[in-house]
Amino acid sequence: MKKIAVLTSGGDSPGMNAAVRAAVRRAVYLGVHMYGVYHGYNGLIAGDIREMTLGSVGDIIHRGGTILYTARSEEFRTEAGQQKAAEQLRQNGIEGLIVIGGDGSFRGAQKLTKIGIPTIGVPGTIDNDIPCTDFTIGFDTALNTIVEAIDKIRDTATSHERTYIIEVMGRDAGDLALWAGLAAGAESIIIPEEEQDMDDIIERLHAGHRRGKKHSIIIVAEGVGSATSYAETIKERTGWETRVTVLGHIQRGGSPTAFDRMLASRMGAAAVDLLLEGKKDRMVGIQNNQIVDIDFDEALAQKHKLDTSIYQLARTLSI
Ligand code: F6P
Repeated sequence: MKKIAVLTSGGDSPGMNAAVRAAVRRAVYLGVHMYGVYHGYNGLIAGDIREMTLGSVGDIIHRGGTILYTARSEEFRTEAGQQKAAEQLRQNGIEGLIVIGGDGSFRGAQKLTKIGIPTIGVPGTIDNDIPCTDFTIGFDTALNTIVEAIDKIRDTATSHERTYIIEVMGRDAGDLALWAGLAAGAESIIIPEEEQDMDDIIERLHAGHRRGKKHSIIIVAEGVGSATSYAETIKERTGWETRVTVLGHIQRGGSPTAFDRMLASRMGAAAVDLLLEGKKDRMVGIQNNQIVDIDFDEALAQKHKLDTSIYQLARTLSI
């Protein structure tokens, strides 16, 4: 391969830029021309493709968001859109594509492979919900953002002796809520992967009160419902003052942590190597700190597994 391209797709995540940088620099190092596709699959359909150089990815390793922009493309879901996208790559003489994004973006990449464009996926999403990889790019940064926010909320929760219900992102996955809950010492963590028992949540709050602790932090993953409804139920059942914070898109921004920059650099470079080795229809992952690659079909047939031992530990430590 002499010409390959990279795009970012779906919800952005901190570290995507570091992955783009790594892919571009690895390709140039190996004597391959690297092209950036702007605005995700929408830009691919429209032919918004420009050659990238060593300089075009300078000064971005520390920046959140994605310099390539991103989109959730409706047109690319159609066969006509996929054919147009493949045609744009062919017209530009581009022989392979790296897609940085989540599982929806990987399904799009698979379609391209099926119509003749070799693709490799790099998992970039704050949700950490991609099977076959221990971590996705952006999860660690979002986690740190959440923990920092909870620490601040805890200050005021303590002063006012209130119960705070904090809603965090993650789509259908509870990883962000669970890891943040353990790291920030939440009293209860409500996630889609574990059955929620309102009696247990209330009893934990009462147990805290009995030993003189009048403030509490409860983390709710967005995948189980809204923090507001949990706050109402808790208020009804305890009579205590509650407050709700929905952290929202603040979780998607910010400078990537060193962990995410490392992960992105390793995965971005590995994606280029895989294409040049003639591999396609695969995603890059990290397992036990080793970079691995897995067939898209195999990966996407599985469901992401949350580490339930962390949930049990968090329950033990928040008695
Ligand atoms: O997948 C990343 C994510 O931030 C999810 O956690 C969240 O549910 C969703 O994207 C929000 O999407 P949007 O930015 O389109 O509102």
